[in-house]
Amino acid sequence: MRSMTDEGPHPTPFGGHPLPQREREFRQEFPYLLTCEYPMTQSPTANWNYPTTIKFGAGRIKELPQICIDLGFKNPLLVTDPFLATQKMTLDAVASLKAAGLGVAIFSEIKPNPVDSNIEAGLKALKAGGHDSVIAFGGGSGLDAGKVIAFMAGQTRPMWDFEDIGDWWTRADPKGIFPIIAVPTTAGTGSEVGRAGVITQESTHTKKVIFHPLMMPKVTICDPELTVGMPQKITVGTGMDALAHCLEAYCSPFYHPMGEGIAVEGIRLVKENLARAFKDGHDLEARAHMMSAAAMGATAFQKGLGAIHALSHPVGALHDTHHGMTNAVFMPYVLVFNRPAIEAKIERLAAFIGLEPNFDAFLGWVLDLRQQLGVPHTLKEFGVELTNLDLMSKMAPEDPTAGGNPVPLTEADARMLFEKAYSGQL
Ligand SMILES: NC(=O)c1ccc[n+]([C@@H]2O[C@H](COP(=O)([O-])OP(=O)(O)OC[C@H]3O[C@@H](n4cnc5c(N)ncnc54)[C@H](O)[C@@H]3O)[C@@H](O)[C@H]2O)c1
Ligand SMILES: [Fe+2]
Repeated sequence: MRSMTDEGPHPTPFGGHPLPQREREFRQEFPYLLTCEYPMTQSPTANWNYPTTIKFGAGRIKELPQICIDLGFKNPLLVTDPFLATQKMTLDAVASLKAAGLGVAIFSEIKPNPVDSNIEAGLKALKAGGHDSVIAFGGGSGLDAGKVIAFMAGQTRPMWDFEDIGDWWTRADPKGIFPIIAVPTTAGTGSEVGRAGVITQESTHTKKVIFHPLMMPKVTICDPELTVGMPQKITVGTGMDALAHCLEAYCSPFYHPMGEGIAVEGIRLVKENLARAFKDGHDLEARAHMMSAAAMGATAFQKGLGAIHALSHPVGALHDTHHGMTNAVFMPYVLVFNRPAIEAKIERLAAFIGLEPNFDAFLGWVLDLRQQLGVPHTLKEFGVELTNLDLMSKMAPEDPTAGGNPVPLTEADARMLFEKAYSGQL
């Protein structure tokens, strides 16, 4: 593989790694694509209308009470995780809702990688408090739990009847779905603009996707200031999740040019901003661009995901690892596995993001980025032993995301990929 250090010294945003010739030329030809292409002093502010209404910009959490009033919410349940429930930004949001005369309560009995019993407890709180709506507040765990609680509010069938299989979502009573406002505090999952929630079934230790089009939040507030306090590890894990969403959506074989267009710009935003946000968590412009990349990833992955997620889900469900960081571990192994089907596409992508237009340059960038961000290169370094190898190899091809992989993923392939990711052999 071509080394990123082959060429003479040249400063880069990633801290002194020399840039290959092609990237140098690209930066000279298209500076507006690689720096901040919009004139701005701090971080962008805008209102967007797809895939839902998005109030984007620093400080826009202040608009939450008025948005609730405009949507007719009188008594929302704010669903978040136990850590965020104690944080100033959450307490401030609750205080602002109360000051506006809204009834509000916090429900926070949820695990990272939320499980079915969390949803049941949330539904009890929703009914006991007489709530009429949900504010899903947090990282993917709080957002997914909040969205699924809102979805289940008035359903009579059990939650697993609404798994994302075929047209099972049509079993739901749309009138029983409470409206949702989403407020992301991480920049990764994109659940704030998604129509699904990922919940772990405790009895089978399986991550399952609950899907309904009306689970899309009515309004999303993307306020990058809320992500400033994220610890570096969560910044990395969530940022790599956004990258995995864009990359897998781009590589999936289904016809969805809109999804593909969004994915490539999302990947460029990650390339230009994740290392910046990692180095300086207070860099609001980088935080804003990562928040965009996260929402773009989830918008794009309506086109499909792939083996990164299919391998990651069993590991997350059985070992309770962080979802995005798990994806980050698997990313290069899956890229190499998919190479025969995606090489030409990756060349095009590499050129767009300013790399030499070849597969090895892109793979080299992924490996380099992981290293700079402290992503473990192997499952072993990540602390995941292959004790469940048989089970995980069976679960991965059955995961609903596996169908979007450009190369069909068999049980034998999954076993090989788990073993490679464990030993570090690309
Ligand atoms: N619905 C979807 O489309 C979708 C997509 C990808 C992942 N997911 C799911 O999302 C979950 C992972 O979400 P996540 O990666 O955002 O992590 P998370 O929500 O589990 O949060 C991780 C940790 O970060 C903390 N945290 C969150 N925001 C913070 C902030 N601003 N400052 C300080 N700490 C903060 C949380 O309290 C928690 O301890 C998984 O369950 C995964 O399966 C869902
Ligand atoms: Fe993901």
